[in-house]
Amino acid sequence: MDPLIKLYLSLLLFFFSFLLLGEINGVESSSSNQWSPKKLFVFGDSYADTGNIKERQAVSWRVPYGITFPGKPCGRFSDGRVSTDFLAKFLRIKTPITYLRKDYGEKEWLWYGMNFAYGGTGVFNTKSSSPNMTIQINLFEQLLDDVYSQSDLSSSIALVSVSGNDYSNYLALNRSIAALPIFIKQVVDQTELNLRRIHDLGLKKIAIPSLPPLGCLPLYTSSQCCNETFNALVNYHNSLLEQVVAKLNNETNHSTFAIIDFYNAFLTILKNKGDNPENTRFETPLKPCCEGSCGNVDEMGAKKYTVCDDPESAFFWDGLHPTQEGWRSVYSVLDNLSTSLLKP
Ligand SMILES: *[C@@H]1O[C@H](CO)[C@@H](O)[C@H](O)[C@H]1NC(C)=O
Ligand SMILES: *[C@@H]1O[C@H](CO)[C@@H](O)[C@H](O)[C@H]1NC(C)=O
Ligand SMILES: *[C@@H]1O[C@H](CO)[C@@H](O)[C@H](O)[C@H]1NC(C)=O
Ligand SMILES: *[C@@H]1O[C@H](CO)[C@@H](O)[C@H](O)[C@H]1NC(C)=O
Ligand SMILES: *[C@@H]1O[C@H](CO)[C@@H](O)[C@H](O)[C@H]1NC(C)=O
Ligand SMILES: *[C@@H]1O[C@H](CO)[C@@H](O)[C@H](O)[C@H]1NC(C)=O
Repeated sequence: MDPLIKLYLSLLLFFFSFLLLGEINGVESSSSNQWSPKKLFVFGDSYADTGNIKERQAVSWRVPYGITFPGKPCGRFSDGRVSTDFLAKFLRIKTPITYLRKDYGEKEWLWYGMNFAYGGTGVFNTKSSSPNMTIQINLFEQLLDDVYSQSDLSSSIALVSVSGNDYSNYLALNRSIAALPIFIKQVVDQTELNLRRIHDLGLKKIAIPSLPPLGCLPLYTSSQCCNETFNALVNYHNSLLEQVVAKLNNETNHSTFAIIDFYNAFLTILKNKGDNPENTRFETPLKPCCEGSCGNVDEMGAKKYTVCDDPESAFFWDGLHPTQEGWRSVYSVLDNLSTSLLKP
């Protein structure tokens, strides 16, 4: 036999036994029990949007948004990085390109997935004119086959960000508080349809954050404490969401769907005034860094807001959104993210 072929065959054999042993030992070895997603697809709202709304059409493109990163407004609703950036970092991939920018720049930018999230949107239409989640999923579906193949999708993860715009819209329309539980059920039912659709399109892992404690957002807290009535409604939303995720995982026989527990992560940080009790980073955690009508000026060009000296000392950036340091803290207290997201 040709010595080269011999070498080749023995290498092949070695490789096969490695695979076999790897499989047998797989239960004990945590590294072979993990998968590493290559792409991130993002749907939802301003907690996840990294710049899908066109310039000048949202406050996220105005000073002082983006002052920490990248140093100027860039369409993120924060002083810097947002939820999507920290999830991508956790997955060790680059922040995926926005749908808006998909036709510009390098082809490699498509490698890390795509972000379809628009600030202000919900699962239903809100006063925002941006596409709701159904339309965002349609945009994604239109790119399948041409831009992303089924094998791309099987090594991809989805982030589905539903952070409460359906509810702020409901409240802004002065609709009945008493009927809110009925509406909450509708929002979660529509979320379930969206999750099913994303799964049916081929995504193998789908992360969905729980609703954060909306009653603690500066917009809804004039005093220094959270609105517990509002948070009780948020808890109702989250318990329905947990039931839906359990049902979907049972149907698929896998832990395909994973809740990222923003609710408790936010509360832990607000209580500890930081991501660990020894290090009080956020002295007044319910006070936003950018107070007033953040990003807006009057007819004379005078600012209708004030900005704190050190955005790193604030958990909230504006009335609704965490600062970059706030998001970093949230992701740092989500200690079992690996268990839920990196399990095949
Ligand atoms: C999403 O928006 C489209 C276009 O406005 C609308 O036809 C559709 O009903 C909306 N979907 C939901 C679930 O509200
Ligand atoms: C809701 O109520 C407030 C206060 O009563 C009022 O200012 C606002 O115009 C109302 N909004 C709608 C959409 O009816
Ligand atoms: C708390 O939230 C509920 C539900 O949104 C609202 O009806 C109530 O007025 C709020 N309470 C305070 C003190 O703001
Ligand atoms: C999944 O659903 C089936 C049918 O409803 C039920 O019999 C089964 O116990 C469920 N399995 C789990 C793990 O919940
Ligand atoms: C899930 O597992 C059950 C029992 O092992 C099997 O009957 C069913 O076909 C599986 N469903 C899927 C979607 O794989
Ligand atoms: C994550 O941690 C929480 C609290 O420690 C625990 O209740 C939950 O079961 C864990 N989830 C997973 C998927 O391990």
